[in-house]
Amino acid sequence: MKIVAVTSGKGGSGKSTFSVQLSIAFEKLGKRVLLIDMDEGMRCLDMLLGASESLIFDLSDAIAGKELELCLLEVRKHNNIMLLAAPSSKGLFEYSDFGQFIRGLDPQKYDTVIIDLPAGLDAELYKALPVDTEFVCICNPNQVSVRDAANVGELLNNIGRRGRLVINRFEKYFVKNILFDNIDDIINETKLGLLGIVPESEGLRYAFCTGKFLTRGTDFKAFLRIASRLCGKDVKLPKLKKI
Ligand SMILES: Nc1ncnc2c1ncn2[C@@H]1O[C@H](COP(=O)(O)OP(=O)(O)O)[C@@H](O)[C@H]1O
Ligand SMILES: [Mg+2]
Repeated sequence: MKIVAVTSGKGGSGKSTFSVQLSIAFEKLGKRVLLIDMDEGMRCLDMLLGASESLIFDLSDAIAGKELELCLLEVRKHNNIMLLAAPSSKGLFEYSDFGQFIRGLDPQKYDTVIIDLPAGLDAELYKALPVDTEFVCICNPNQVSVRDAANVGELLNNIGRRGRLVINRFEKYFVKNILFDNIDDIINETKLGLLGIVPESEGLRYAFCTGKFLTRGTDFKAFLRIASRLCGKDVKLPKLKKI
């Protein structure tokens, strides 16, 4: 069972959007996905995925021992993605219990667990997750976000965890002409290995408002490449102008 934790220090970098799209990409690769909204108090995935009306139990109930099946929400049109919603307020469970809960998930039922973490660097939360968790740091191509990703990279390094970088909302014009000479600068600064690049996407902006997430097309392929890389496949980065 692969565990992917999606993180960034700042809010608004695209973690929740990425978590949903990565879940859909894993589903396309034939995986059964458990998507966990860990953004306590700021829950949004149930709303984004149109599942709020059936929400009765959430992550805090599941951690407290409620039968998991009763806490899971179905995702319309995605039979192989189950959603566990975030609690509506903060502090309903300890991180150590959250970690224990993740460790106790049945690998026969889920191939991939994707955790949409809250914004904010939190070593205790990172440490509570299983040691083989793949942390994915979502970074936008601007200096503030790159500095933020560098902090994530340093923290993960300090606690001996593995993190990789996704550059989200990529527009080659910005990167080439305004901020950085090239992508290598971002990677060097954050000291995180590059997992993938997601383009600035009108489709994703639209999805955030309508709940109609991408299931095909050029922009969606970025998520398929990332999911394949997380499965250990060696998928080359396309030419930057084709992203
Ligand atoms: N690749 C992208 N292209 C265009 N808009 C994006 C992209 N990724 C995220 N967004 C937009 O950025 C905003 C914040 O995204 P969200 O997923 O809520 O971030 P976070 O969970 O990190 O706070 C949303 O309006 C979303 O539509
Ligand atoms: Mg979010």
